[in-house]
Parts: sequence; C-alpha cells; structure tokens
Amino acid sequence: MMKAWLWDGSAGIEHVKLSDAPVPEPQAGEVVLQVSHAALNPADLYLAEKRYPYPVHPPLPHVLGRDGVGTIIKVGDGVEDVVIGDRRIILRSDSGVFRWGTFAEQLSVPAECLAEIPEGWSDEEASCASLVYSAGYRALTMWEPLKPQSVVLVTGASGGVGVATVQLAAAMGHTVVALSRNKEKQKRLRSLGAALTFNPEDPRWQEELRDSLKSRGVDLAVDNIGGKLFPDVVAAMGEHGRISLVGELAGPVPNFDTGTLFSRRLRIGAMALGYLSPLETRKTWDELLKVITDSDARPQIDKVFMFEELHQAFERLTKGPMGKVLIRVKP
Ligand SMILES: NC(=O)c1ccc[n+]([C@@H]2O[C@H](COP(=O)([O-])OP(=O)(O)OC[C@H]3O[C@@H](n4cnc5c(N)ncnc54)[C@H](OP(=O)(O)O)[C@@H]3O)[C@@H](O)[C@H]2O)c1
Repeated sequence: MMKAWLWDGSAGIEHVKLSDAPVPEPQAGEVVLQVSHAALNPADLYLAEKRYPYPVHPPLPHVLGRDGVGTIIKVGDGVEDVVIGDRRIILRSDSGVFRWGTFAEQLSVPAECLAEIPEGWSDEEASCASLVYSAGYRALTMWEPLKPQSVVLVTGASGGVGVATVQLAAAMGHTVVALSRNKEKQKRLRSLGAALTFNPEDPRWQEELRDSLKSRGVDLAVDNIGGKLFPDVVAAMGEHGRISLVGELAGPVPNFDTGTLFSRRLRIGAMALGYLSPLETRKTWDELLKVITDSDARPQIDKVFMFEELHQAFERLTKGPMGKVLIRVKP
C-alpha cells in the first residue's frame, strides 16, 4: 500500500483526504514513478470544486495533481528508453485529470509523457515547470510570430503561469508589462524580466502605461484573470493587437464596448493545453526549454509544503503566490 490524497468526488477540496491506497502497477507503455515533489495548480481546485472548464469525470476515488517529478521504480512492457532509477518530469498529460495524479507517493504514467530533468535543476524546480511554462509558451506563440521587441502584457503575472510567461517573453526579447496587485511582487517581477509593472486595481494604470510606451499600445496580452480586468486589457491594446486567453481567475467578463475590437482590429483567442497530443506537448516543451536555457530563467518557487500539508498548500495557492506552490512527497 501507499499514501495518497484521495478525492471521493464530492464538491470541495475538503473532500480530498490522506488515505491508504494500492500501489500502482504499470500497463504496457507506462512506468511507475516514486514521486519526490508535486506542484499545485488552480486546475486541481477547479476539479475538486466541480467547476473545471470542461466536463471531467475521473473514476472515483481520484488522485489530483498534474505536475511532478520522481524516480522510476517499475517499467511496463514495451518501454525502452528509460531504466529503473532514472529521474523524470511529468509533462502535461491526463495525470490528475482522467487518471491518478501526483498527490500520492507513487503514480503510473505513460512513458511518452516523461521528460529528462534539465541540467542543474533541483527536484523542486523540475516538479513545477511543465504546466506553467507550456501554458505561457503556447499563449505567446499561438498567433503568427511577434515582431522583435513587441510589447507583451501579462495579467496575474505573479502566479505560476504569469511568472513563466514574463520570463519567456523577456527571454524572447520583448518588452514585458506585468500586472500584480502587490508592490513586493511587482519588484520581483521586474527582477525576473518585466520592464514595467502596474497594479491593475489602480485606476491610473492604463494612462501610465500609455505614457511609458509613448502612446504605443500592447501587441500581445496574455490574460490569466478575465473578470472586470478584461475590458481594461482590451483598452490597453494597440492596433492589430492579440489577446491570448489562458485563465479566468476573476470569473466572468462583464459587458464591454466591442467597438475597440473593430477600431483597432483586435483578435482574441483561447489557449487550451488540455487538447494537445503527447507529441505536441513534447514539441512545446523542447522549444520552450531552449528559450529558458538560453536565458538565465529558472522556475520560481513560492513555498514548499510537506506531503501531509496539502490543504495548507491549497490555502496558500488561493491567497496569491509569487511563483509555484509545491508539496514534498518523498524526497
Ligand atoms: N488554458 C490552459 O490550458 C491553462 C493552463 C494552465 C493554467 N491555466 C489557468 O491560468 C490561470 C492562472 O494560473 P496560475 O497557475 O498562474 O494561477 P496562480 O498561481 O494561482 O496565480 C494567479 C495570480 O493572479 C492574481 N489573481 C488571482 N486572483 C485574482 C483576481 N480575482 N483578480 C486579479 N488578480 C488575481 C494573483 O496575483 P496578485 O495577487 O499578484 O495580483 C495570483 O498570484 C488559472 O485560471 C489556471 O486555471 C489555464
């Protein structure tokens, strides 16, 4: 038996409980990982609260957790390029969504969803990179390529996806504008590559942005927030600007004047990692890793909790972290 955080299917994270569970056996093409560290994502909460953006009904009980790193302890039939003892990252996959995830001592995962740990990265750094950097990279590259030194606006910039997007956009040579409601986090974001930072709750932020950009508008916005901030994002856009929708942390968007979309010929599109094939996921990872390793960017960790402290870790996530919140499962 192993220890795992089991969700019984009732709405609410309080229904995720530390329990005994059978150890997994690998199917053909899979390996079993002894999880060392796992990272939390808002998607885990959405699933437990039954407000995932699309219908997801995993068999119950279910284990949440989409991101993690671990050591291979069992190898299924037909898996050739890894051996017991190898350490691997789990790339975005069905883990934690349709099959048991990383909030457990062990999990079985298709070998095609694994990647090597980048040289010099700690287990902590490796455990929390896959989902957020993939989201940031896809949001930045889902349109035709940006011109050099474009202006990229990132909302919710202090969160997992936000920090990754700020780092990637800066490493690509763009002028990054990062929004955070917290002054200390704004400072950190500037040290991570943001050229300009603003508080989205300050009514003057758009005017100050236009002044700083000498009346130029934003070329690409990566929006993690939605809600009442979204009309302000639209208003900050320049001609032919593009908005990549990633998240909706602030909920539904209120009515806004669509006239700006016409007059500036704006485009809005949603980025959804959940529909990538394992091959597309790997290609995305390989491409973004090149951008990261050519710069000095590294995954940013907000706080590491013990395995038994999953609920405290979720509390921290909902309070607005600076980077990623992790649990140490079995170092
Ligand atoms: N589409 C996809 O495939 C995909 C993939 C990954 C993630 N996502 C989504 O992307 C979003 C961001 O994820 P994340 O991991 O970066 O989240 P996160 O780590 O929880 O951070 C989000 C940040 O946004 C800010 N924020 C939170 N609630 C807000 C509100 N109501 N109004 C304004 N700002 C708020 C906070 O920053 P400050 O306190 O500093 O302002 C917080 O640090 C989530 O909705 C997630 O589900 C989507």
